[in-house]
Amino acid sequence: MVRSIESVAVIGAGTMGAGIAAASAAAGCRVLILDMNADTVEAALQQVDEGDRYLVTTGLVDADLDEVSGYDWVCEAIVEDLSVKRDLFSRLEKIRKDGSVISSNTSGIPLRQISEDMPPRFRSDVAITHFFNPVKVMRLFELVPGEDTDQEVISAFAEFGSSRLGKGVVHAKDTVNFIGNRIGCFFMLSGLHLAKPFLADGMSQETIDGVLGAPVGLPPTGLYGLIDLIGLDVMELVGKNLAANLPDADVGHEFTSFPATEQQMHDLGQLGRKAGGGFYRQSKTPEGERLKESFDLSTEEWREAQAPNLEGIPVELGEVVFHDSAEGELAWKIFGGTLKYAASLVPEIADDVLNIDNAIRWGFNWVHGPFEMLDHLGAGRVIDRIRAEESELPMMLQVLDQAGVESFYRNQGSEYLGTDGEYHPVESSVD
Ligand code: NAI
Repeated sequence: MVRSIESVAVIGAGTMGAGIAAASAAAGCRVLILDMNADTVEAALQQVDEGDRYLVTTGLVDADLDEVSGYDWVCEAIVEDLSVKRDLFSRLEKIRKDGSVISSNTSGIPLRQISEDMPPRFRSDVAITHFFNPVKVMRLFELVPGEDTDQEVISAFAEFGSSRLGKGVVHAKDTVNFIGNRIGCFFMLSGLHLAKPFLADGMSQETIDGVLGAPVGLPPTGLYGLIDLIGLDVMELVGKNLAANLPDADVGHEFTSFPATEQQMHDLGQLGRKAGGGFYRQSKTPEGERLKESFDLSTEEWREAQAPNLEGIPVELGEVVFHDSAEGELAWKIFGGTLKYAASLVPEIADDVLNIDNAIRWGFNWVHGPFEMLDHLGAGRVIDRIRAEESELPMMLQVLDQAGVESFYRNQGSEYLGTDGEYHPVESSVD
């Protein structure tokens, strides 16, 4: 059955639901916003552009759930709790109309757990539609089908996400944390651990953030600044979800919990920007001037922030990973380690390199996605380095090596290397 989405019912009007509702109204759709809490619904309505508010109906879950029957897409964005979500989906399934599509915005609950023992109509009409925060700004829209999801349903979500909402659609699989957060959170969690010896040798966290920013094509928040933005509380939950759901052999298991100091910061409520400070904070001098401070991970005390020391580091994008210096070693271990991790995850989490590159560029604002970066650095150089360390080549680097080719993309990026060792047109990857 061909599906078309012209109207959207959003259940859960918090950070994400409010964003999805506002984006859908801005796209000209009729929108229903429901929550348990009337103030939250009102706050979500205020986030809709004034000119679009005529398209929006609001209500409370207990009183108005039946309204959902008038909408083409029922989008769940409530609390991240499997049993609460399943309970809501069971109620929604009895109400929503035939031909409608239904989805969860979960950041990490597997769809197979949500769908287990649900009726066939639910199983064929459901997907995960994973937006990134803030919805208005972030381009990434991960789409995850379940075992029984109809292709028409996925096509309808992909079409709506790209044409109506202007998002970058990435096709992910039903694996823990999908694509963006699987790789992005590996970078952060492994980074906290792998940075420790460098801190112990006297490298400042500002320098670590400086190296893991522009020199490798990442935003200026680097490592610690990014975790400050996301929050140590969110990262802790992500770590727990990874510990429970990563495949047994995944190297990410080494990094699912925080190092001791970071755990202590978390336990003391030093969670990041939203809590007034994490690794960094903004404060004031006694004279009232603005002062940026760093939480020194060695002394565990606040001190004035220093400028990063990037002297002598190559200016060419990415070259720092091959630089013979402590900063080069740090970049190779943390950033290079993340590239290797990404290269090990095709076809486990995505069918091709393209979906991974798009997810990381659109979700984390890297200049190049991991495979584009491997091409930029020279995949052969990276392979030589991995071999020199007597480590195993990750899956996609093995594919490239065995195919006897030098890059993941060719012909100005119009073709990408598949897991079969052949090049395929980029358009063939997209729905
Ligand atoms: P939030 O806490 O801001 O909002 C959740 C809302 O759901 C609250 O307003 C709450 O009143 C409501 N709610 C809870 N149980 C309900 C129920 N049974 N029926 C109706 N409403 C209910 O949470 P947020 O951040 O918007 O997250 C929502 C979902 O999106 C979660 O699954 C989360 O993992 C996911 N997500 C969050 C991201 C983020 O950065 N905040 C990014 C991507 C996904």
